[in-house]
Amino acid sequence: MKISPYIQELIAKAQKLGKTIVLPEGEDERVLEAAHIAAEQHIAKIIILGDENSIRSSFASHNWGMDGIVLINPAKSPKLSAYTDLLYNLRKAKGMTEEEAAKTALNANYFGTLMIKSGDADGMVSGANHSTADTVRPALQIIKSKHPERVVSSMFIMRSMAGQTYYLADCAINIAPSAKELADIAVSSAESVIQFGDKPRIAMLSYSTYGSGKGEAVDKVCEATRLAKEILKTPEYANLPIALDGELQADAALDSVVARKKAPASKVAGSANTLVFPNIEAGNIGYKLLQRLGGAEMYGPMLQGLNAPINDLSRGCSAEDIVGLIAITVLQTQN
Ligand SMILES: CC(C)(COP(=O)(O)OP(=O)(O)OC[C@H]1O[C@@H](n2cnc3c(N)ncnc32)[C@H](O)[C@@H]1OP(=O)(O)O)[C@@H](O)C(=O)NCCC(=O)NCCS
Repeated sequence: MKISPYIQELIAKAQKLGKTIVLPEGEDERVLEAAHIAAEQHIAKIIILGDENSIRSSFASHNWGMDGIVLINPAKSPKLSAYTDLLYNLRKAKGMTEEEAAKTALNANYFGTLMIKSGDADGMVSGANHSTADTVRPALQIIKSKHPERVVSSMFIMRSMAGQTYYLADCAINIAPSAKELADIAVSSAESVIQFGDKPRIAMLSYSTYGSGKGEAVDKVCEATRLAKEILKTPEYANLPIALDGELQADAALDSVVARKKAPASKVAGSANTLVFPNIEAGNIGYKLLQRLGGAEMYGPMLQGLNAPINDLSRGCSAEDIVGLIAITVLQTQN
């Protein structure tokens, strides 16, 4: 397995934390290979959900050891009834019946999420065989936003061909964020970038720089910038090394020559490392163009703003991608 130097760096940090990650998709060979690597390299202790016999025979057929790996079949777990009660109590006000809770707790993504809620695991990586919505919904319903008044969002870590690291949000969760939600995304991104050991320099992206373009979409980004700056002045963030500015076009955000022309007063323009897109269309299209035409490596998307980390894989992911996301998830367990 070829693991990129950047992910190797994250693995080295994750190895020191001794966390437990649950992988709900034990039926998937890529997940099993990633589990084997993650446990063998002590990235995390691994819990795999699924049929124990078939997982064991898969491991045996590859001569993979099972040290650091625990197998759980949700249907046979002695904790199933406690998890079912927990789910029912959390969701009854939303109309969930006891019968529905019993059925839902057996779903591997819900079971894994309930393990985290119960303190039996620190994080979860899923999505090799599930849609984003199916992976993310249990997290939103059970783990919930760390700040109840703020939306949960997502972030990609991007390594450019030149070896620089950038952070991109929100390319995967909030479809049409309001100004307030965009501010939430920016603040969560600041927290994530700090978790990854970097100093956030956040550009609130638009098709306009400092009033050069007009329209409702520009007004939204200006308002989001104002709201984010307000949140960043509160005691929770005031002493952290966070710079944020907007509205900025991508060239003004990233290129110091353009920045000097378009936004000379900005402390972020020309050297942004964190790009907050105005909506999911811009973000999702933007990151895929960077990946496909720009040759950038993309890691994620990781969810941000949750009480505990749960991350979604792309269905086309490789075992290497899963190992990378396990390491990222371990790092996100740090407050
Ligand atoms: C993330 C997503 C799946 C959630 O949709 P959903 O499951 O229909 O969500 P619902 O509106 O039914 O909400 C379910 C719960 O999650 C909460 N929720 C939904 N989005 C949230 C967010 N961004 N932050 C915090 N909570 C959120 C809701 O408040 C609700 O909580 P409650 O049931 O306790 O009241 C949806 O926003 C989505 O499909 N996003 C785009 C995904 C996508 O296609 N990405 C591109 C490919 S990567």
